[in-house]
Amino acid sequence: MATIMGGIATSHIPAIGVAMDKGLEQTPYWKSFFDAYPPVREWLYSQEPDIVVVFYNDHGLEFFHDRKPTFAIGAAPQYENADEGWGIAEIPPVTGETELSWHIVNQLIEHDFDITVCQEMKVDHGLTVPLTLMWPGHQYGHIKVIPIAINCERHPMPKPSRCFDFGKAIGNAIRSYPGEQNVVVFGTGGLSHQLDGQRAGFINKLFDLYCMDKIVDEPEVLTKLTNFDLIEKAGSQGVELNMWLAMRGALQGKLTERHRSYHLPISNTGAGLQLLATSDAVDVNQC
Ligand code: DHB
Ligand code: FE
Repeated sequence: MATIMGGIATSHIPAIGVAMDKGLEQTPYWKSFFDAYPPVREWLYSQEPDIVVVFYNDHGLEFFHDRKPTFAIGAAPQYENADEGWGIAEIPPVTGETELSWHIVNQLIEHDFDITVCQEMKVDHGLTVPLTLMWPGHQYGHIKVIPIAINCERHPMPKPSRCFDFGKAIGNAIRSYPGEQNVVVFGTGGLSHQLDGQRAGFINKLFDLYCMDKIVDEPEVLTKLTNFDLIEKAGSQGVELNMWLAMRGALQGKLTERHRSYHLPISNTGAGLQLLATSDAVDVNQC
């Protein structure tokens, strides 16, 4: 059966992509942010993943407010990116994995998650920035990627508890897939931020650190929050924590937290990076 080696949660701020395009990683503003990533990459490569399942939110490139699936999955051989207006260069196509995608879809329907299936789908910075962070220079072509988009832009949005359960259903589907594939799950976005309105620029460091604490061994505590709690505590885009919860839901058993870092601010956001390894992970030295 396919094996989930662990989960990685990272912010997906577009400015990160622009900084990488311009080679600004070692400049004073960016250095400590980017310095957190090499140990996580090292762990990721050591797991020799065949497939990466990415929980992200589409900010309007594929799904605008006029058509917004609550949960959508890609089942395409390839995913294109396009200019979103953030100044990030378009990235080369991402390789898909249709067989596991369809297996997940069938399992989800069996377990009462009726997901939108996309056989064509453009992927935005919510997916492309984390992929570029993990494989700088866009060296991800050998990895098969399954994009899973969760509505985080238009009310009503799925609740934190529902996103966690959705992640659980996907984790179970992956673990029931006949094959030898190594899978790593990403959750992208967050942590606290608000991009517009009266509280534009709002960041809540204490709440972000609390979430990073709880998500390791007590994620259920976070699932008691409503989306309105999240908006109040973490800003209107703080609901992107839901992608972290879906990632966490997909992980099972005893977890080892191999990395945690938090950098504030990057653009308008409290930027978090966290790596949780399952007991199936290949053992490497503590990152
Ligand atoms: C920013 C953060 C996001 O999550 C996003 O999707 C776009 C912009 C920011 O902080 O600039
Ligand atoms: Fe975002």
